[in-house]
Amino acid sequence: MAQTNIRLPYFDNLLAAFSTGNTEVIQAFGRHVHWGYWDDPATADGSVVDFAKAAEKLCHLVCDAGGVKDGLRILDCGCGFGGTIASLNERFSHLQMVGLNIDGRQLARARQEVIPMNHNQIEFIEGDACQLPFEDNSFDIVLAVECIFHFPSRDRFFQEVQRVLRPGGKLALSDFVPLAAAQPIFRFFDTFVSESVHRTYGDLDFRYSLNDYQKLAKTVGLVMAPAKNITFNTLPTYPVVRRLVNYMSNFGSEMNSVTGGMELISRLELVRYLILSFATNK
Ligand SMILES: C[S@@+](CC[C@H](N)C(=O)[O-])C[C@H]1O[C@@H](n2cnc3c(N)ncnc32)[C@H](O)[C@@H]1O
Repeated sequence: MAQTNIRLPYFDNLLAAFSTGNTEVIQAFGRHVHWGYWDDPATADGSVVDFAKAAEKLCHLVCDAGGVKDGLRILDCGCGFGGTIASLNERFSHLQMVGLNIDGRQLARARQEVIPMNHNQIEFIEGDACQLPFEDNSFDIVLAVECIFHFPSRDRFFQEVQRVLRPGGKLALSDFVPLAAAQPIFRFFDTFVSESVHRTYGDLDFRYSLNDYQKLAKTVGLVMAPAKNITFNTLPTYPVVRRLVNYMSNFGSEMNSVTGGMELISRLELVRYLILSFATNK
């Protein structure tokens, strides 16, 4: 069993909203708990149906970056309610998929919602992405959709990924990545907003730059592909999330402000939403 002393207040609120049958929150976050992707952000209509489609699209992009194809063994770290595995289950066949999450409550929902089809096999396991409970060389692809900022250490996660990937294997992830030049601004703002961020979104670290990723990949023996910057395509997420947080938390206005701050620094491209992929050079 993983140590679940991680704080994820937004998941406490999501689960509370689900239990009251809040249909908008369930439609928006019952499958994926990540930002949306719009090819043309001008077409976004602000509805939860439109948002859910965009969240599905973002999941496809990360899976494409990992090179998913039929028959592979795939680990989805920080798997949330199992949305990425549900999507792969519907679109591919003969996959062996494992969803790993530190939060057993999310896994209980994933096990209920995601039923294997298309000759796929699915397991959901409680554990920490920085201490993977798997053998060396046991996966073709590792995915981590919008969750690495919660992990206790990106260094340890990358070392573990390199260990469990088979020769020729790939890691694909999405993350909020600050411009290196903006890091001092983040340190300055951290002093003022970190309490609010921790009260709403929990333990997270948005200070890892592209340069940091490049160095880390090199250190552990992964080869990084050019990053895909989709910041602009994710921007319609913010009004939807800011509207929904008002329903689902006893600190809705604080969550709204924190999400608004994130929107501002994203619009200014001080922090970029990137899809990153890495190949092992074993
Ligand atoms: C923003 S959610 C993303 C969920 C999912 N990947 C998705 O896209 O729907 C972040 C996820 O990371 C998980 N998480 C946080 N720390 C973790 C850790 N150390 N090991 C495994 N999962 C973790 C959380 O429980 C949560 O499910």
